[in-house]
Amino acid sequence: MAEQTSPVWAFHNPVALRFGVGCARGQAAALPPGPRLLVTTRGMVKRGMVQRLLADLGNAEGWEILDAVTTNPEVSALESHRAALKAKKFAALVSFGGGSAVDTAKVLSILLGAPDDFDLRAHLEGKVPMPDVPPVPHYAIPTTSGTGAEVTPFATVWATAEGKKFSFASPRLFPKAAWLDPDYTTEVDRSVTVSTGLDAFSQALESAWNRNANPYTLMIATRSAALSYRALQSIPAWPISLQTRAELMEASLLAGLAISHTRTALAHSMSYPITAHYGVPHGLACGYTLSELYRYNLAVDDGRFEPLARAVAGCGREQFADAIDALLVKIGVPELMASYMPDLAVAAKHAPEMFTKGRADNNLRAADVPEIAQLLKDVAARFAQFPRS
Ligand SMILES: [Fe+2]
Repeated sequence: MAEQTSPVWAFHNPVALRFGVGCARGQAAALPPGPRLLVTTRGMVKRGMVQRLLADLGNAEGWEILDAVTTNPEVSALESHRAALKAKKFAALVSFGGGSAVDTAKVLSILLGAPDDFDLRAHLEGKVPMPDVPPVPHYAIPTTSGTGAEVTPFATVWATAEGKKFSFASPRLFPKAAWLDPDYTTEVDRSVTVSTGLDAFSQALESAWNRNANPYTLMIATRSAALSYRALQSIPAWPISLQTRAELMEASLLAGLAISHTRTALAHSMSYPITAHYGVPHGLACGYTLSELYRYNLAVDDGRFEPLARAVAGCGREQFADAIDALLVKIGVPELMASYMPDLAVAAKHAPEMFTKGRADNNLRAADVPEIAQLLKDVAARFAQFPRS
């Protein structure tokens, strides 16, 4: 009889990485020759960040700047950017901004490479396949640390007027390269740093307690969670150092790599209606349920939680939930949540909307709607006990 070994596993992420202060300097030389499109926001232009980036890259010539990125990229806006830009035949796209800038460039890299008759909306609705042509090479330069979008094959696009959100997933959405300089995140304020840091922490933990996890993703998710757990402890001593910003950026990158394979799980799935109905920022909406979700998953521990707890918080698996709670209290999550949702228990009524396929079902321990509602009631009861500053 054959000896029993671990199951077959795989990992693939094609994004070429450069990380560290100054890592984008001179990199214009690495771009393919020809016209370039910089995808960013008006705010980044106004604050002089775009000028600074172009100087860093070492070539301020030959750039077209699209500064119309909005928080939730719309299908209609992406189609009109395509119509306006297609004739320019860009050799490269560079995104510079948060997750929305990166997502906008990901979708444009496909649209600008696709035949004119490719209909994005029809593709998102599952009616037409992805065109069999390569996307325009996309180089991502993130300026926030949270989504890890620079290394994932996913993008979120919206049709807000119809109340629709599409999760776009394709290996063709992977950027060609990502250049991560923590110095580009120094303008990110405290509340955005808390929310984006919690997004990274949440993505790492959800990748760890995920049915798609393997030894490789567990390794990177564990290091990611350890980095964000430590870096977030510095929030009360705001402003944080460049070293802490570098830790948050690495945490975000590694969590992105981990979820590029595993995808996220229940905390993300439960967060979407919380954000939609109460305006709670994404990372906060994911992060506030983490300790309860850990307790829930601990019941089906297959041996992965002791090393995770040790590496992240230096405690045993039975103490890890309390360590997460202590972090949430320390960085002001109870007060922040109360400012959006004075009564946290109301979240339970949205449980039927919280089972996003491809997210919730990745959770290590299966959860149905009544169990999700109970989890949210438990979170509310626990938050009621937390000390407030
Ligand atoms: Fe996220």
